[in-house]
Amino acid sequence: MPIVAPSLLASDFLNLQKECTMLNESEADWFHLDVMDGRFVPNISYGLPVIEQITKTTSKPCDVHLMILEPERYAEAFKEAGATILTVHIEACPHLHRNIQQIKSLGMQAGVAINPHTPVESLKDILQDIDLVNMMSVNPGFGGQSFILHTIQKIRDLKKMIIERALHVKIEVDGGVTLENAAAIVRAGADVLVAGNTVFKSKDPKATIYQLKQL
Ligand code: DX5
Ligand code: ZN
Repeated sequence: MPIVAPSLLASDFLNLQKECTMLNESEADWFHLDVMDGRFVPNISYGLPVIEQITKTTSKPCDVHLMILEPERYAEAFKEAGATILTVHIEACPHLHRNIQQIKSLGMQAGVAINPHTPVESLKDILQDIDLVNMMSVNPGFGGQSFILHTIQKIRDLKKMIIERALHVKIEVDGGVTLENAAAIVRAGADVLVAGNTVFKSKDPKATIYQLKQL
């Protein structure tokens, strides 16, 4: 059974409390929270004051995906805002190992996200130090894009690397996950499914989450 992490980027911001209640009542495992800075990615989403409120509504793990430059400047603030898992982008971090150490020393789990063009081999020397890889299956910055098919092969390759080294790193797949492609993504080796539009724009979000859990 995959871990299902709905992305609140696709939720109704005018009814955020209702959306959080829905997730809490559903079988969703984590809250996925996307932070964009308009620099690393060409879009700005929401930030600390909003996340602080969202995390207050739940006891489920809050999975914060930072699509920002210089994430070290904000790691402590995200811990205080209630992040359980903090993920930074490999492409944004020339001192990635230091960033990971900082996140762990703050008591959070550490994730590394890779863009669609970034090879899984680039994770080789950080894999032993992290809890999660966020494998981007769209170009980060926007919800509602189509799944990039080549990701399936990348998931298989990364799973192989993790198994060969007997590590316990989770593979999270983020972007364009649908009820149609989710089974293939899980079969390839994904442990965590992020889903924004598929959950929040569906007629019955709780039922959709339930269906994703059955894979
Ligand atoms: C994209 C974000 C994703 C996004 C996924 O930059 O990292 O988490 O919200 O949205 P969907 O599932 O709609 O592609
Ligand atoms: Zn994300």
